[in-house]
Amino acid sequence: MITMNTHYAQLENSYLFYHIAQKTNAYLQTHSGTHLYRMGIGDVSQPLCGAVIQALHEAVDDQARKETFHGYMPECGAPFLRERIAAHYAQRGVTLDADEVFASGGASDELGDILDLFDTRSAAMVIEPAYPAYVDANVMAGRHIVHVSSGRENGFLPQPDASLQADILYICSPNNPTGAVFNRAQLQAWVDFANRRGAIILFDAAYEAFIEDETLPHSIFEMDGARTCAIEICSLSKTAGFTGTRMGYTVIPKALERNGMRIHDMWVRNRTTKTNGISYILQKGGAAVFTAQGQEQIHAQIQIYKQNAKTLTNALDRIGLWYCGGKNAPYIWMQCPDGMDSWTFFDFLLQKIQVVGTPGAGFGQCGEGYFRFSTFGDPDETAQAARRLVELFR
Ligand code: MLT
Repeated sequence: MITMNTHYAQLENSYLFYHIAQKTNAYLQTHSGTHLYRMGIGDVSQPLCGAVIQALHEAVDDQARKETFHGYMPECGAPFLRERIAAHYAQRGVTLDADEVFASGGASDELGDILDLFDTRSAAMVIEPAYPAYVDANVMAGRHIVHVSSGRENGFLPQPDASLQADILYICSPNNPTGAVFNRAQLQAWVDFANRRGAIILFDAAYEAFIEDETLPHSIFEMDGARTCAIEICSLSKTAGFTGTRMGYTVIPKALERNGMRIHDMWVRNRTTKTNGISYILQKGGAAVFTAQGQEQIHAQIQIYKQNAKTLTNALDRIGLWYCGGKNAPYIWMQCPDGMDSWTFFDFLLQKIQVVGTPGAGFGQCGEGYFRFSTFGDPDETAQAARRLVELFR
């Protein structure tokens, strides 16, 4: 008889955002016709920008003509996309070979898939509160997980210490869910630690485009020594509204080696075996994000989400609740009022004002007592939700 992957039995019954969707659907079934103000999952509300739409249309037309038609794409990404992304990094002073950039179907897929490269005996570190997919993907593989705590006392930005026994180090900056961002010295400390230990950092840069404070690093490759210890995983979901379109990219330097194996070569081997690449049409759309026009347009959209963040933080200021984030990141991380636990607060907001957020406990034990608001909603909806919050606590 077949033997199943029994590690699945160690998982929570359902994934955080799936569970929230189930709870809100159950609420709607008993309150039909009720409007919900959805600020839970970080799903974008603005459409794809003009430069991307035009590139997608043109790519569809290319596929209609024999002379411009594309069949299979190169598994690791089309040169036109890889070159554009490398040029984008160069503007920030990071030199990459174009073939160090791999096209992907999105950061969440990649964060799980990349684990193929590591032995299941390698321990994975997550900084709690943490994006739950880091934990769940490693639980599925049966890997030991080292939970590093963070909290208000260290600004949700812990530093490595010599006692840390982990091989795969997840670092998300700007952070989901707290919105905290490592400064250069703090991120350098993680890079130095990883190089000393022979660990590999999986740097989740999905929210880098939200950084306002230009002293803060956007890429781990701005740090000295990162090319020998880091992989950077990026997404166009939040940067350019690709949550439903699906595309991202991953940077693996050729200098990254462990056990005499070059990680870049391993990932080429993996992708050429397990995928047939990202579609031509999507890669054309993705490449348009990195044109001057695309950058201007996506940053105009990001400003809409930043205005949402101001709307929500103004409401929290009026109520007098503690929060962080919302400035260099699209998430606001607040303390639940009156010592409420985070799922109780979730139910309270849903029942009283029909506002949906994400309970901090869904990001691990360190998230208990906190609550996350996404700022990716429609501005009018966000303004109404903010008004409802103020009314509720008046
Ligand atoms: C979130 O809400 O944390 C993210 O949108 C989830 C994701 O990107 O998969």
